[in-house]
Amino acid sequence: MCGIVGYSGHRPAVALVVEALHRLEYRGYDSAGVACVQQGSLCVSKAQGKLTQLEQLLSQEAPSTATTAMGHTRWATHGAPAVRNAHPHLSNDKSLALVHNGIIENYLEIKNELLAKGYSFYSDTDTEVLVNLIQECHKQEPDIEKAFAMALNKAHGAYAVCLMDKDQPDVFYAARMSAPLILGVGTGENFVASDIPAFLPYTRKVVFLEDGEMVRATSSSYEVRKIADLSHVDVSVQTIEWDVQAAQKSGYRHFMLKEIFEQPKVIQDAMSGRISASKDEILLPELDALPVPGRLTIVACGTSSHAGLWGRHLLESVAGIGVQVEIASEYRYKETLIFQPGEMVLVISQSGETADTLAALRRARECGATVLGLCNVVGSSIAREAHSVLYTQAGPEISVASTKAMCSQMLLLTLMALYWGQRKGILSSEKCAEYVQSLLSLPEILENSLHDMHDTAKRLARKYAQAKNFFYLGRGHCFSLALEGALKLKELSYIHAEGYASGEMKHGPIALIDSSFPTFAICLNDALLPKVKSNVVEVQARQGHVIALTNKGVDLAVDDAWIIPEVPGVLAAYVVLPALQLFSYEVADYLGKDVDQPRNLAKSVTVE
Ligand code: AGP
Repeated sequence: MCGIVGYSGHRPAVALVVEALHRLEYRGYDSAGVACVQQGSLCVSKAQGKLTQLEQLLSQEAPSTATTAMGHTRWATHGAPAVRNAHPHLSNDKSLALVHNGIIENYLEIKNELLAKGYSFYSDTDTEVLVNLIQECHKQEPDIEKAFAMALNKAHGAYAVCLMDKDQPDVFYAARMSAPLILGVGTGENFVASDIPAFLPYTRKVVFLEDGEMVRATSSSYEVRKIADLSHVDVSVQTIEWDVQAAQKSGYRHFMLKEIFEQPKVIQDAMSGRISASKDEILLPELDALPVPGRLTIVACGTSSHAGLWGRHLLESVAGIGVQVEIASEYRYKETLIFQPGEMVLVISQSGETADTLAALRRARECGATVLGLCNVVGSSIAREAHSVLYTQAGPEISVASTKAMCSQMLLLTLMALYWGQRKGILSSEKCAEYVQSLLSLPEILENSLHDMHDTAKRLARKYAQAKNFFYLGRGHCFSLALEGALKLKELSYIHAEGYASGEMKHGPIALIDSSFPTFAICLNDALLPKVKSNVVEVQARQGHVIALTNKGVDLAVDDAWIIPEVPGVLAAYVVLPALQLFSYEVADYLGKDVDQPRNLAKSVTVE
């Protein structure tokens, strides 16, 4: 969702900000803009579409000499994607410029008050309302920092904002409330951005701003204060471990492809430090101080919720913990949350900033539940607000479509099931050691098979890319993978796809099957195979074409049998997942779609 960059330093600021915005492109956007102060006036340039449009516009203007600037990529919420709605927005007196990520919920009320005072509005955005509210507050409060805080205290909702004042050309102000914003601390330069990759080529030193905090920064100083009363906040500067390389394509055609191929390493990294030297015990010190849950409610959105659905099987079978999985956007508004004694809530989020998941976490905490977080982004809101957090250690995931993050979430869920099973005394060291052996063998199995899988995905993509609809079928733990396969296909290639539990087909959806409606069936060599086979035959009896993801030796007469390495039990999912991802990737790429930034999507969904 929207990307914000603010910079004050010694380099040409506009060029730097645009370059930094490129590293936030993965968040999804439909217009972009920059602002700086030139000869005492705020100069704003904005363009609809990709950053290349903005760069084209800037190349026609006189090069900027400013060393302080801010920029924005906008994902439309209030108002259509158009130049007039793109950020930065100027106040009526053109003294202030603002960029904003999030939603000001009471903007209409404020807008009406400002209209009554004679203000005019040229966009449909809540951001323009906020910048004019700051102007109005500035009339009463000559110190712009205080006026900024006064306005923010009147605004309700979620925001990350960056402000520039024409009278202070070398300063930017920024503030956050329930939307990501990170301060980058350099030498003779300071940054603020929605995500770390924006400024990573320049500094690894960061301050994670907390909700309700604001910062005033110049090239040589920064000070963080509370928005509520402007009191000084002592912040700690942290050092980011990963480097720019991790946020680059490294020779791959797309980030998504790179991230799919990173999965063997992701599995290794997620296990790192979490398995005892004797390889028969799981170490999750983050959970040691908490009781073993009697029941677990998993709350998440999209792919993260599919990881939760998959994890349920192991948590139930290995740890004997009853699990329910809830979609965060529904859970947060449930009239009644019923917790049984010993019940715990687990929220799963790659970004750690998904608005619905964060709200669900807060609601569960308010109701007295202990909340665990499973996140990839260190220091994210969910990571900070959960009682305890487990990090998936998957490294930055740049492609909007989540791939390696799901793999790492599944790995942590596996480890949690083993850990709790052992703590409850229902999983023996021998059995745990067997699981550990299987887990440790996964990276090599994947390394040896990903290239073949990619070739098969390419071949099948060309054969099936013209389909208008697709079913994905799976049973048991593969049902969640069928849901994920369908989500990947629709979000990347815009082909309509539905994931179903194989046995549910005959209760209605089978009516849709004909020769133009193919089915992708997960038919692994496990106890449920005979049942899945019957479902495949039912599809074929309606002239449906079938791709079956299966193992060597499985007797299946289908259009395309895609053989993948056999891994016993539910851990087979670690091989199924990349096959599903590669198929969607190849279909989308073959159809010429924007694989890393599919239309209408955002990487981090910070609005509800
Ligand atoms: C997956 O490919 C998605 N683009 C999306 O469903 C994503 O998983 C969802 O928005 C949740 O994000 P989170 O894990 O960052 O909370």
